[in-house]
Amino acid sequence: MIIRSAKFVCSAVTPEQYPPDDLPEVAFAGRSNVGKSSLINKILNRKKLVRTSKTPGRTQLLNFFEINELWRFVDLPGYGYAKVPVEVQKRWRPMVENYLATRVNLRGMVWLLDIRREVSKEDLTLWDWLRSKQLTVVIVITKADKLSKNKRNKQAASIAKSLGMKARELIQFSAISGEGRDEIWQRLLRILES
Ligand code: GTP
Ligand code: MG
Repeated sequence: MIIRSAKFVCSAVTPEQYPPDDLPEVAFAGRSNVGKSSLINKILNRKKLVRTSKTPGRTQLLNFFEINELWRFVDLPGYGYAKVPVEVQKRWRPMVENYLATRVNLRGMVWLLDIRREVSKEDLTLWDWLRSKQLTVVIVITKADKLSKNKRNKQAASIAKSLGMKARELIQFSAISGEGRDEIWQRLLRILES
């Protein structure tokens, strides 16, 4: 994928603050620290377009980016991290649900799960909700570089089972090696150009 331009548009909490809904949009969601911001940087070949951090809870607002003047990506704040201040946690659900429920140009979502973790209660809550909305979801298992090939496939199978999916339906990704990037783009283009 050739990225001619990738730029930050704005941060938002409420719909009045979103950019216009004139371009197809994809949102990136997942637990805090799962690697959403790192994945966006990696698939855009940009080192520092999106801020990443070792400390979970880095992204606290909806952050909009415009890609090739054709599409928008939305980096969503992560859920499920207890050390994020309570008021931020409380704000998360309405902020994200409102976005997912009302955004008319939202074409699909990339949902990230950490390869080393079992699917959590919060993950399943989001999954049920996404399925009820019939939103196209690309499921990505991140930090694949942290496990051996053998352990990876075991974990992928276990995660897939919790979601009622097949392991081959999930994309294994590493923001370090870039593994999985082409597969993510293939799926994204199908969504964005449909
Ligand atoms: P929040 O904004 O807090 O929700 O987190 P996030 O999901 O945006 O995670 P972020 O991209 O900031 O990454 C969190 C940490 O995980 C950082 O220290 C990253 O360097 C690291 N990380 C992300 N992806 C990978 C990966 O594929 N492999 C490895 N080894 N580390 C990763
Ligand atoms: Mg982030």
